[in-house]
Amino acid sequence: MRIGLLTGGGDCPGLNGVIRSAVIQAVDVYADECVGFLDGWRGPLENDSIPLPVSAVRDILPVGGTILGTSRTNAGTPERVEQITANLRQAGVDALIPIGGEDTLGVAAKLAEAGVRCIGVPKTIDNDLSGTDVTFGFTTAVQIATDTVDRVLTTSASHHRAIVVEVMGRHAGWIALQTGLAGGACATLIPEVPFDVDEIAARVSALTAQRRPAVVVVAEGAVPTSLVEGEERILDEFGHVAIGGIAGWIAEQIAAKSGVETRTVVVGHAQRGGTPTAFDRVLTTRLGIAAVDALHRGESAVMVAVRGEDIQTVSLAEATGTLRTVPPELFHRLDALMAHT
Ligand code: F6P
Repeated sequence: MRIGLLTGGGDCPGLNGVIRSAVIQAVDVYADECVGFLDGWRGPLENDSIPLPVSAVRDILPVGGTILGTSRTNAGTPERVEQITANLRQAGVDALIPIGGEDTLGVAAKLAEAGVRCIGVPKTIDNDLSGTDVTFGFTTAVQIATDTVDRVLTTSASHHRAIVVEVMGRHAGWIALQTGLAGGACATLIPEVPFDVDEIAARVSALTAQRRPAVVVVAEGAVPTSLVEGEERILDEFGHVAIGGIAGWIAEQIAAKSGVETRTVVVGHAQRGGTPTAFDRVLTTRLGIAAVDALHRGESAVMVAVRGEDIQTVSLAEATGTLRTVPPELFHRLDALMAHT
């Protein structure tokens, strides 16, 4: 079998781990041949690929980023689906392993409908894909953000300041929630539950008055209850709003309402860079093997997924149908704990 791999959407620690194990499994176990399409869906759209022998992937497990490059090229239109189908036929590619989040796998679902054999692999630091317990890259992102919180906690206490740490998460607050819990933040603000800035300012005042650290973790997509709408926003090819900068607004509000001095840290793309955690290295290794095994069982239009201790397959339709966001009841239970930090 000739298998094409590609990585799409925002990069994520662990992409190389999937590429490595999939290639080794395909070539060494099944005597397949692998090619890597470059820069997400742009690769198959423009027939831009490189050979992927085992020698090209041997030492890449701990390396961040993706050796194939990535992009947010949207190939989901009927014309592009047709173009890719024709290009794959011409290149003699029998099946695709697209590694990506909701957008990348949404295109995979359309290609599968058009007859291209596809096994998706769930990637996103946001951990917001349905059908899987966890996505790779998430634990690495949480660890990086938690390291930042650990560092700013001490300087917050020394200076009796509040520090607002902004993490990624446009629609889902999983990174913020786990970082806030792991780091001992006094509040975590997530997109799923609008926040009351007066209440956050009151928590901060109480802590700084006790000479204790006051760190607030905010997801970039969090919204205040008093949201002002109508700003012009920049959209990417999938129509997502480019956001960020909420930490600055919250810090100003806290300072104005509590009189406490504030600072901000935007963890930003550092969450997506560098070496994956041991957990993500093991997970990506298992997912790459499982994707190739699924192809050889004759499966298609599915995504390999973590279910408890097992790796199973779920339909791409199920995986991309709805975003997996933080249930508000769960948030409120954990927020009550953070309020008593
Ligand atoms: O890939 C997911 C993500 O990291 C989101 O958490 C974040 O909002 C977005 O990508 C940032 O995108 P870009 O890299 O295009 O700035």
